[in-house]
Amino acid sequence: METIEPCVIIIFGATGDLTNRKLLPALYKLELDSLLHKDTRIVAFARKPKSNEQFRKEALASTKKFSKLIINYDVWKKLASKIFYQKSEFQDAEGYNKLRNLIKKICAKNAGCNKIFYLAAPPGFFGAIIDNLRISGLNESSGWSRVVFEKPFGHDLESAKKLNETIKKDFNENQIYRIDHYLGKELVQNLLVLRFANPIFDSIWNKRYIDHVQITVAEELGIETRGDYYDKAGALRDMVQNHMMQLVALTAMEPCVKLDADDIREEKVKVLRSIRTFSSKDVNEMSVRGQYVSGTVNNKKVKAYKDEEKVAKNSDTETFVALKLNIDNWRWANVPFYLRTGKRLKERVAEISIVFKQNPEILFNNNASRASGIEPNMLIIRIQPEEGISLQFAAKVPGRKMVIDNVRMDFCHECIFGPNTPDAYEKLLYDVISGDQTLFTSWDMVEHSWELADKISNGWKRGKVLYYNPGTWGIQEADKLIEKDGRKWYEPKKPYYSALLGK
Ligand SMILES: NC(=O)c1ccc[n+]([C@@H]2O[C@H](COP(=O)([O-])OP(=O)(O)OC[C@H]3O[C@@H](n4cnc5c(N)ncnc54)[C@H](OP(=O)(O)O)[C@@H]3O)[C@@H](O)[C@H]2O)c1
Repeated sequence: METIEPCVIIIFGATGDLTNRKLLPALYKLELDSLLHKDTRIVAFARKPKSNEQFRKEALASTKKFSKLIINYDVWKKLASKIFYQKSEFQDAEGYNKLRNLIKKICAKNAGCNKIFYLAAPPGFFGAIIDNLRISGLNESSGWSRVVFEKPFGHDLESAKKLNETIKKDFNENQIYRIDHYLGKELVQNLLVLRFANPIFDSIWNKRYIDHVQITVAEELGIETRGDYYDKAGALRDMVQNHMMQLVALTAMEPCVKLDADDIREEKVKVLRSIRTFSSKDVNEMSVRGQYVSGTVNNKKVKAYKDEEKVAKNSDTETFVALKLNIDNWRWANVPFYLRTGKRLKERVAEISIVFKQNPEILFNNNASRASGIEPNMLIIRIQPEEGISLQFAAKVPGRKMVIDNVRMDFCHECIFGPNTPDAYEKLLYDVISGDQTLFTSWDMVEHSWELADKISNGWKRGKVLYYNPGTWGIQEADKLIEKDGRKWYEPKKPYYSALLGK
């Protein structure tokens, strides 16, 4: 508690989905855990006319709906008394003058006036909000200031650069927190511990033992109500450019000198810099894209992507991508990384599979019958829905004959550490308050990942989007992409403990 300073957290877009679904429940949890300073205040900034009381009432309803916890009303009252509402359009300079006066009134007198500007706003307004913070002098008034950006940070490299230049006029890199909520997930944070605190894994984490890496981030859901945004973005910009590049970087990075934000971010960027360059002609060799048609997922009828709300009838936006990347450095030479992500796939799952090289099958070639075909040893880091780590190996099936099957040792995160691991947003908000940038995306990372995404998207202009049935693992060309290298996708398997957890 001593290290937590008071601050005023200003949420731009405080009546929106993100605030209701994620930020309010996260603030409640921080209050519950006494991780908000008693003098911290929250200003909800949005355009609908509301009193403080009305906003607090609605905030309670959202927190009840979206928090995993049962609300303790004494804790809620404490939090509610810290929340204020400021009505304004994002573009209205006068609204920022009112905001400045409100902040002056509510911020802790004795500790300067630290401010967190959280832009939970549509990205088209990021520039206008930053300009207005400057014009009103809010970015320079007393105390420290930090500014938090939700994804997407730009639509391509050029727009990201432009946005970054606007922000850089008023904020230094150490004041800028670009959210990638995947980095707040427990199992993603666990990757560095798994790799660098465990000599057994550390020593085999390289080209000598690893054949390839597969990363799957699949959703059963479609695009829900996000057609407007998604149709301009697609799976490449929505998932690959940010979350999947972070997973690649954390899986492949070298150990850093210290566990601090700059060192970790530096090592991650080196991974992106080592990705083998490719021309637009190569793009269709190393990547495929698809879009879902109508069909059924889990016995539920679902619409085609083109029939979703706010999607163009002739849209060729991809809702599925599969991709092969080569990382040309000492550790990963000739160890490809295969990535796939999409909407309306067979199940909701995010996992990283480290697939190890196989032994020559001399011993078991003739005299072992195989129950299901010996698969390679695999280490699977399951990010969602059941967090955990599994190690797959071959074992003898009991009996007189030599029959071999694949078995898994599962580490169940929730079984060991209990339920209610912090939601990504709790962790990320707490880190902004305490000034730790480790789990936020640096500009270098944004720049390199946009470069890669732009190259892929330019290459795609030569080809056409293909179609897949909902409830599958995407277009068949994704299988061909990996099969032409003599490999295959390993279908995610439910860990043994998922029944225990009721998932
Ligand atoms: N929702 C998610 O789960 C999610 C996940 C990852 C990233 N994000 C990112 O988070 C940001 C917010 O997303 P969201 O889903 O919360 O959006 P949203 O539901 O559309 O909410 C947008 C918020 O901005 C306000 N707003 C819009 N135009 C305004 C204006 N001209 N002046 C003042 N206020 C205005 C809205 O107020 P009204 O209520 O009056 O319209 C609302 O409070 C976006 O950058 C998005 O990409 C969201």
